[in-house]
Parts: sequence; structure tokens; C-alpha cells
Amino acid sequence: MVDIALRVNGSEKKVSVSPETPLLWVLRDTLELTGTKFGCGAGLCGACTVHVDGSPIRSCSTPVSQVAGKSVTTIEGLSANGLHVLQQAWIEEEVPQCGYCQTGQIMSAAALLAKTPHPTDEQITQAMNGNLCRCGTYERIRKAVHRAAGDGGAR
Ligand code: FES
Ligand code: FES
Repeated sequence: MVDIALRVNGSEKKVSVSPETPLLWVLRDTLELTGTKFGCGAGLCGACTVHVDGSPIRSCSTPVSQVAGKSVTTIEGLSANGLHVLQQAWIEEEVPQCGYCQTGQIMSAAALLAKTPHPTDEQITQAMNGNLCRCGTYERIRKAVHRAAGDGGAR
């Protein structure tokens, strides 16, 4: 066990864990931020996506020691009231089906829009490629990203 300091959703945190512990389990079990989901545990599905210093990463395969001193944003920290422009667009386009993958989808989309405010279909496909959805909501995700970007429907 070691003490590791990190900033999570704007708050300084210190956790006492084994340095190899995946960030996902520190978020979910130690810090009780359960919005981030476990899917494959192997970096293959994107369900566990969070931002580290603004970039999307797979928290299931990132040891917590790698994010020491860094700034982590989870779905809980994306907006103060749960109504980030993407979350609103997700509601308006009725994106989720079972919902399990959607935290990761929204976090990847948020990272995309931060870099590319008006992405094309191709840019959305590229950026979201590693986020799998067993329910097949990809078309609605694409529409919601365009809506959040202020670009209306698909183009
Ligand atoms: S749970 Fe992390 S990529 Fe699947
Ligand atoms: S909404 Fe069910 S896995 Fe994506």
C-alpha cells in the first residue's frame, strides 16, 4: 500500500492502495464514484473511459500510480448538475438502450468535442471507435454528438 494523491473532479484526493490497482477500482470502490463502468477489464470496450488531464483513457487498464498528481474527470464531474450539453443531447436523441456503455460513450464524445467542436461523421466514428455498444446505439450516438456540437442531425 502507498499513498497516492490525485485530483478527481476538481477535488484533491489521497488514496492508500497498491500502486498497481487499476484506476477504475480506485474510482468505484475507494472513492465510490460508480458512474464509471467495468466492461471487459482489458482495454477493449471503452465502458470505463475517464479523462486524465483532459484525454480519454481506459481506467480498467491504467494503474492508479500512473495518474498520481494528475487530474481525473469522471462522468460525475462532467457537469455540476448532470446536464452537460452532451448529456442533454443524449436525452433528446434518446440514445441509451440498456445504458451500460453510455458513460464511456459520453466521456469519449466529450474529449472529442473539446478538441474538435464540430466533428464530421468520420471524425466521430474515428474518435468513438473503441467504445463498443452491444445494443447498437451507434447511429443515435452520432446524431447526439452532432446535436451537442450545435450541428443538428447527421451530416
Ligand atoms: S472495461 Fe475498460 S475497456 Fe472495457
Ligand atoms: S446501450 Fe446497451 S451496451 Fe450500449
